[in-house]
Amino acid sequence: MPQLLHLDSSADPARSISRQVTARFSDSWHAIGTDHSVIHRDLHLNPLPHLPTSALHWAPHLRTSEESVDAAAEALQTELIEELISADVVLIGAPMYNWSIPSTLKAWIDYVHVPGVTVPFDGDTAPLVGKPAVVVTSRGNDYTPGTDAASTDHATAQLRQVLEFALGMDVRFVPVDLTLAPRVPALASRIPQARANLEAAYSAADELALLLGGSSAGQE
Ligand SMILES: Cc1cc2nc3c(=O)[nH]c(=O)nc-3n(C[C@H](O)[C@H](O)[C@H](O)COP(=O)(O)O)c2cc1C
Repeated sequence: MPQLLHLDSSADPARSISRQVTARFSDSWHAIGTDHSVIHRDLHLNPLPHLPTSALHWAPHLRTSEESVDAAAEALQTELIEELISADVVLIGAPMYNWSIPSTLKAWIDYVHVPGVTVPFDGDTAPLVGKPAVVVTSRGNDYTPGTDAASTDHATAQLRQVLEFALGMDVRFVPVDLTLAPRVPALASRIPQARANLEAAYSAADELALLLGGSSAGQE
């Protein structure tokens, strides 16, 4: 039973572009077959608490004798990590906020990136290696390679660092640039490009859902 873990973090539930594209992926995933299930975690509507203690950054056996953690916080971390490990494919809606990611998504990362549990530290703990992830990054401006703004896209850089290099996941990015073209007068001439970008993102979502949700889901 192929399972998709679908995370959204846009603070604009009504008009969000990243939510529209992740919903498209999720719908395409469902359409593959009734056995294709989805767990949807809305990190904006149901935000996680900030990591309550740095001790939770470490596996229990790596904490110092002075470090203690609240049982409920540790249970939440365990739930989030097990949810991630048991998913065949992970889908993340990641709007660009201040050249980075929403704090709600950052909070989720702080819970699941744990030396000794999800990344190797004193042993070969790497349960997420090879797990496919699709990251939809919506951005008001244009950050395509070669543009002046490209080097300021710290959202993609951060997510690539954590998901790909640290956790070892197999990450595909679906960028949607110029989402603010209809709103910002200086970008008005780019509205046709913005429309084309969104259509391209929908197509990418459809294609990736079929590719990753095929009979070998989780084995790509
Ligand atoms: C708090 C906040 C910060 C933002 N910072 C940036 C930014 O640094 N660069 C940018 O191009 N757009 C920025 N934007 C615009 C969003 O990236 C853009 O509206 C995007 O479409 C948001 O994703 P969503 O449509 O899924 O909500 C910001 C928007 C908000 C609400």
